[in-house]
Amino acid sequence: MKQARPEAYRIKSFEEYQEKYKESIENPEGFWASVAENFHWKKPWDRVLEWDFEKPEVKWFLNAKMNISENCLDRHLENRGNKLALIWEPNDPKERFVRFTYRELYHEVNRFANVLKKNGIGKGDRVCLYMPMIPELMIATLACARIGAVHSIVFAGFSSTALADRIQDASARMVITSDGMFRGAKEIPVKRIVDEALESCDSVEHVIVVQRTRWAVDMKEGRDKWYHVEAREVSDECPAEEMDSEDMLFILYTSGSTGKPKGVVHSCGGYMVYTAYTFENVFQYEESDIFWCTADIGWITGHSYIVYGPLLNGATTLMFEGVPTWPDPGRFWQIVDKFGVNQFYTAPTAIRALMAYGEEHLYEYSLNSLKVLGTVGEPINKEAWDWYHIHVGRNRCPIVDTWWQTETGGIMISGLGGLSPMKATYAGYPLPGVLPKLLDEQGQEIREAEREGYLVIARPWPSILRTTYGDHERCKLTYFSHFKGYYFTGDGAKRDKNGMYRIIGRVDDVINVSGHRFGTAEIENAINKNPHVIESAVTGYPHPIKGQGIYAYVVLRDSEEDEENIRAAIRETLIKEIGPIAKPDLIQFVPGLPKTRSGKIMRRILRKIAEGEPGKLGDTSTLLDPAVVEEIVKGALV
Ligand code: WTA
Repeated sequence: MKQARPEAYRIKSFEEYQEKYKESIENPEGFWASVAENFHWKKPWDRVLEWDFEKPEVKWFLNAKMNISENCLDRHLENRGNKLALIWEPNDPKERFVRFTYRELYHEVNRFANVLKKNGIGKGDRVCLYMPMIPELMIATLACARIGAVHSIVFAGFSSTALADRIQDASARMVITSDGMFRGAKEIPVKRIVDEALESCDSVEHVIVVQRTRWAVDMKEGRDKWYHVEAREVSDECPAEEMDSEDMLFILYTSGSTGKPKGVVHSCGGYMVYTAYTFENVFQYEESDIFWCTADIGWITGHSYIVYGPLLNGATTLMFEGVPTWPDPGRFWQIVDKFGVNQFYTAPTAIRALMAYGEEHLYEYSLNSLKVLGTVGEPINKEAWDWYHIHVGRNRCPIVDTWWQTETGGIMISGLGGLSPMKATYAGYPLPGVLPKLLDEQGQEIREAEREGYLVIARPWPSILRTTYGDHERCKLTYFSHFKGYYFTGDGAKRDKNGMYRIIGRVDDVINVSGHRFGTAEIENAINKNPHVIESAVTGYPHPIKGQGIYAYVVLRDSEEDEENIRAAIRETLIKEIGPIAKPDLIQFVPGLPKTRSGKIMRRILRKIAEGEPGKLGDTSTLLDPAVVEEIVKGALV
């Protein structure tokens, strides 16, 4: 088996980046074939790429056969068998951490794979994972990949209703979960949430329960099985299923501008090549480094840069169960010093939250091991960037501001740690193989510098989404129809005279709260389920820590009830329908919503009011009832 040699595709200078970039655009097939050669394929490809953004249809490494878990694990056994693959740090600093070498992780994944098989799961079956950040989450993910089952990981902060929606949409045959979960000072009854969700999910035959908290939970006879009991009965060797490069690897649900979250589908070969390539080059990982991405595996960042990217390159990846502020706001830095973390990758919202607690929480830590710092998930403001650079990076670590999306699978625009020029609030240059463009309202390309436009990508890269699960038309409409011949990101951006990109934020009806995406329609649907509510409209507004907060304008059916009670009831509805992360920050009761004569809500107006700029409402002459706007401005909460 071909051993992993990430150095073969490692870029070592900015000049080399420029050469590689040019090559990747002039000859994408040759370029990606030369990267892909470094992986283990059971059968080579016939063609590197076939694509058509009209349909849309994109295929990479056609007819090649492979298995990504084999590339993450088996391939390292000869040279890195005793190297640490995973370090797991529990929520409570008093509990002991756990480590797995590549050999140990290999056996654990094989064992889990056999438990899946024993319970009737095979190639193509969808398995939903709803779990805390414990090693078994990574192990189960890789076990699915090993036998060709499609994993659909649902962030364990979602409510039972949101979980049920996702299980139903994917017709999952199995759910993997745990008895309970620790997160900061909170204890969350994960298994109970799964039980509630399953009341409305017929497709699920078995639930595998991993023991974490040792709480007593209901185990439904015939359906629910303890992992540790099942694991005793199987071997720790399981052959890796032969997968086609274009077979589905996973589904990951994400919010869009319509009410229902969509299942973004990634396939095996392209995702493997691209996540490995970007991990190696963006973070400039060296063989004995320890890499830490603080995301949850329930989001794309965790998929690509806790699990797949690092393991594909034989890296040591750190996984943390807890939160940055518990038991105190020095928790991240304590972990960095404890293990000597070299690359640290987090979200602007975490940086801003820690900033608010003050620098004193950093004083007692040396942070000397750090070499590269990264951010992801939302635009980073200058103050947070400076704080990160000065207080965490001690003015010596480069920051990579990595722009990408669930749909892109891997990092698209970013500096390469220490090689590229840095400019605060700018993500920087596109990765090799990525051809971004800025378009105006009419779809004309903007060539001059410093002008804002719609960010689109003109060519396929290996880990572009292939479809939205069960609804290809939706994929086409959302990403390939706004501007013909381009993938539309939903983001606005601008480019400086040196060609560096700055991402401004979403231009569609998506709000980015603490790096979590929500569709405004999704939140409105939930609010409207509250019996007091006639209708509602939500928009984002600038929030000092979350980046964007959720501002809800609500029209009530009855006004007798105490307004605070109704606010609390609405928040409860959100917790039930989506989860605590979707709670609105501000709820304003309004007599009506600003609508056009055809009944369309004029969101632009509501957005301006929420941004504290009621003087800039623009043209309101098409409004059905302009008086409503005056009322809303009078009662505005910002
Ligand atoms: C935003 C997260 C500015 C953007 C990997 C994008 C960013 C959405 C950045 C995707 C960044 C992500 N600078 N904005 N470095 N990274 N975003 O799918 O609006 O959870 O469209 O993927 O986050 O969020 P998602």
